[in-house]
Amino acid sequence: MSRPCDDARYVDAAIAGIRPPAGKPRTPRASDGRELCKLFMLRDKSCDFPNCQRAHLDVPSRPRCETFEKYGFCDRGDARDCWLRHEPCEAWEMDVCLMVDMEMAARHVERARRILGPRAVVKAGRIKLSRHTDALICIKSDALGAAGAMRALYREEPYGMAKTKRTFVFPREGGWSRTFEGLEWDDEAIRAMDAWLEKCIDACVEESGATREKPVYARVRAAPRWLEGRLHDAMDRIIDARGDTLACKPLGGGITTRDCTHCIDAVNLWDRAYVGVWKTSGIYETMEVTGSAPTQVLPEIDAPQLPPAGEASMDDLAFYFPLKLQDYRVEVKPLCRAYFKLHEALLRGRVPIEGDWNCVDIGAAPGGWTQVLSERLTTGCVWAIDPAEITLNPFPTTMTHLRVLAEDAVETVREGLQSTASGELRLVVCDANMHPEACLRIALDFSTKFSSMKESWLVMSTKNFCKRRENWLKVIDTCIEQCRDAGYDDVFVEHLFSNCSEEKTLFARRKGKD
Ligand SMILES: C[S@@+](CC[C@H](N)C(=O)[O-])C[C@H]1O[C@@H](n2cnc3c(N)ncnc32)[C@H](O)[C@@H]1O
Ligand SMILES: [Zn+2]
Ligand SMILES: [Zn+2]
Repeated sequence: MSRPCDDARYVDAAIAGIRPPAGKPRTPRASDGRELCKLFMLRDKSCDFPNCQRAHLDVPSRPRCETFEKYGFCDRGDARDCWLRHEPCEAWEMDVCLMVDMEMAARHVERARRILGPRAVVKAGRIKLSRHTDALICIKSDALGAAGAMRALYREEPYGMAKTKRTFVFPREGGWSRTFEGLEWDDEAIRAMDAWLEKCIDACVEESGATREKPVYARVRAAPRWLEGRLHDAMDRIIDARGDTLACKPLGGGITTRDCTHCIDAVNLWDRAYVGVWKTSGIYETMEVTGSAPTQVLPEIDAPQLPPAGEASMDDLAFYFPLKLQDYRVEVKPLCRAYFKLHEALLRGRVPIEGDWNCVDIGAAPGGWTQVLSERLTTGCVWAIDPAEITLNPFPTTMTHLRVLAEDAVETVREGLQSTASGELRLVVCDANMHPEACLRIALDFSTKFSSMKESWLVMSTKNFCKRRENWLKVIDTCIEQCRDAGYDDVFVEHLFSNCSEEKTLFARRKGKD
């Protein structure tokens, strides 16, 4: 029996850093204590010694390969090359599989669990046994299904979804899906997959009433690359073998992936491939349609919106929308990448910034964060404090640049606040490249000196200035305590998608006093 990979601990271990098995490598032994014969464990089992004292064990009786167990790969190669046993994982069910940068895998897993439930991530693994690779995160939501889960992820986590590299979907109703063991190396498995795929294509033709003039075109998306190759080969073989009798044609001749009528999605994990076929124009959202409004995922009115449930096709959800989100990031013309960090922070922290808020931006140059703030402000002001140059052009009318160290700007801000309508400071943000405790000292200097009767917020980057990660995490805990001591009611830390791996964002909210 192979181990269940859907346990949260296995999910987390599979996407954590790669660690070689503990202890020195030892020659594997049979249960009677004899060492296993190395020659017999070669692909061709070529031990010619008639009196070989070592154990000749067939693969199913050998010990399991620890590295394969943990990551789904081992550096000896596939199941035929490793001396030990590679047991494909059990077949599993999923609705969505996100392909993401390994560095962000843990963040995606955490968000999916928070949005769709603690057991929503049913499996996760990597594309190859290396640190710099992509991760595959398999998600299941019984309540929402593939299309509903996609919508929930966009609505709650547009930033994470914009950072996905691919979004594979496997609608369980109205789509076809199956898993295959050993598709990377076993010819029999490849033949079984070919036969199944041919049946699926026939079903697609029949269901959609395709003809030779208006045929089925299938887009193939798969990870890893070799699997995409297998599926392309299979499609070529099917189309070749059936010739003109099949109302399905290869892409090309002006037909691109955008024109496809169907999509074949597939991923491979622990030597088992999960293959699915769905209709690009298919509407798979089964959840109750609660309204006919499109889903707004970003606060800006010109940001891309998802068509309403019942109207959005699977292609809208799984193919076009991530591209639209990515295009939008270019369209907003951010001054610098830091722009997105504060933009994402305001969204994730649900900071209820209004046009009349007065804000302080500590360490503001070149001006990305100030740009985000001034886009939201109407009558409010932002003091952008930094000895370095602010390169926003034109300067926002709501901004005052104080070209000094923040420590020396407190009095100037005090005077400035007096001439504003409310006289109150509602938001302090700090992205200064300093030790988190130093940042916090300065930020608290502002927020406590000018505490507001209304709700007020602090948003601050906590960068790792420590050699060891544990020490950095301790520093963050200290900062949280200090915020509470300074009178903040809610204090929390998030690892945003716009943060690098060695940076998190701290939020502190003080309730208004009515
Ligand atoms: C990473 S940059 C900030 C980028 C900015 N958030 C943006 O969106 O453009 C850090 C800035 O902090 C400034 N800085 C560092 N220590 C400071 C201090 N004590 N007071 C004011 N600015 C400081 C540096 O001059 C630098 O420009
Ligand atoms: Zn032998
Ligand atoms: Zn192995």
